Amino acid sequence: MVPPKRRKVSSGSSRPDKASKFPQVVSYLLERKMGSSRRTFLTQLGRKKGFRVDDTFSESVTHVVSEKNTGDDVRRWLTSQGHDRTPAHLVDVGWLTDSLGAGHPVDILERHKLREQPTSGGCEVATLSIPVYACQRRTALNNNNAILTDALSLLAENAELCDDDKRGLAFRRGAAVLRSLPEAVTNMRQLRGCPCLGEHSLKVIQDILETGASCEVESTKQSERYQAMKVLTGIFGVGVKTADQWFRDGIQNLHQLRQSGRTLNRAQRAGLAHYDDLGLPVTKSEADTIANIVEEAVLAELPGSRVTLVGGFRRGKLSGHDVDFLITHPQEGREEGVIPKVVSRLEVQDFLLYHKTSRNSYMESKDGPAPPASSMDHFERCFTIFGLATGDAEGRARRRAVRVDLVVSPFSQFAFALLGWTGSKLFERELRRWATREKNMTLSSHALYDNNQGRYLKAAREEEIFAHLSLDYIAPSDRNA
Ligand code: CTP
Ligand code: MN
Ligand code: MN
Repeated sequence: MVPPKRRKVSSGSSRPDKASKFPQVVSYLLERKMGSSRRTFLTQLGRKKGFRVDDTFSESVTHVVSEKNTGDDVRRWLTSQGHDRTPAHLVDVGWLTDSLGAGHPVDILERHKLREQPTSGGCEVATLSIPVYACQRRTALNNNNAILTDALSLLAENAELCDDDKRGLAFRRGAAVLRSLPEAVTNMRQLRGCPCLGEHSLKVIQDILETGASCEVESTKQSERYQAMKVLTGIFGVGVKTADQWFRDGIQNLHQLRQSGRTLNRAQRAGLAHYDDLGLPVTKSEADTIANIVEEAVLAELPGSRVTLVGGFRRGKLSGHDVDFLITHPQEGREEGVIPKVVSRLEVQDFLLYHKTSRNSYMESKDGPAPPASSMDHFERCFTIFGLATGDAEGRARRRAVRVDLVVSPFSQFAFALLGWTGSKLFERELRRWATREKNMTLSSHALYDNNQGRYLKAAREEEIFAHLSLDYIAPSDRNA
């Protein structure tokens, strides 16, 4: 005999034996104000349509459905029952009737949500308080959700390879929010209230949590187009448009590209020649070796210069696809034309397998940046391929090719250049989006323009830029969004 008292608090599900059609949604109907006969009617109707509706409240409940209650009413009731920290959604009965009408649980729309005064503490508030913009969050290198973020990143990459940057960005933002979570996601309920996760991303996550894999991700990986585009855009100097044209002409791999007799530009020829090396991750120790070489050359050509390692290595990454350097000189103007001198020096020393220099084309207009502000900056820069002396497996001397970017900024723009070239790419995009949409400012790697005041805001340090933008300062190691 089960004592009545124990029965009351025992099982969460009153029908654990009967499988529901939507196992991830568990509803509980609040009798208060709804009345017991209507509650019984809706409960039975829900179950008939394959919904799981529990008679008692438990931690399994995902949706608390009530009628004519405010969110605070429901919250008070939950608290009185000892469930003040439940992460379940508090929804109006309209959500249930809409779902029954649709034949499946529908998304929670604004009109379904119950209004609640914000409270402090509790896990629900913690998830609800994840900020929307990646530049408002700290994202360290360690990632507790690598399986999920790898999946979403792959879909982002595939979208970008299809020239669908909008879709790509949606997946990137979804991956970034998962990367910022302090713990591993094992249950969809942990994601309730989490921003930046659309229906599509949630479906992918749910598939992985439930079955260990996402069909969409697996079939993308297998797809001929994805594989070919990845190989072709993996060639330095080849973008999505070129690769897509080649793919449509039947070129799917390097062998076919070589056979095709295509005319390649100088960058692409170098990219093809050093394809294998450039596909290998650059280690921190290789980056340090290159840092020494670059610093020596820059200081020899322009004493007093400052050379800063930027990009992923400044964020603390242990490997990268290239090495990025930002060069400046405390005396404004002295930095002009330093790149050709440094490049000549590195060439004489036989360090360069390839280089292409662009001149500084930045112009500061009194009326602010020309809209739309391009995300591409205008610094004097040089994209290079270094050849590092090394040995092959048999110990024979050979040169290991590494991509290296050199960028020069005038001293007055240094803080902006440093912020702009430290990344991650998504962190940068989010900073600019925040500036535009929330502050009516225009941020680039050169400057910050306040459109309300009609003037440029100066900064000598990254901290000042965050302050101008009313953002908490985020250290480089926490910008791995
Ligand atoms: N960047 C830029 N303009 C470019 C190329 C890069 O402003 N034409 C910026 C990017 O926005 C990024 C930084 O330079 O913030 C570094 O870019 P990149 O080397 O591509 O990426 P990393 O974050 O360094 O990643 P990895 O370790 O793979 O190199
Ligand atoms: Mn880099
Ligand atoms: Mn780079």
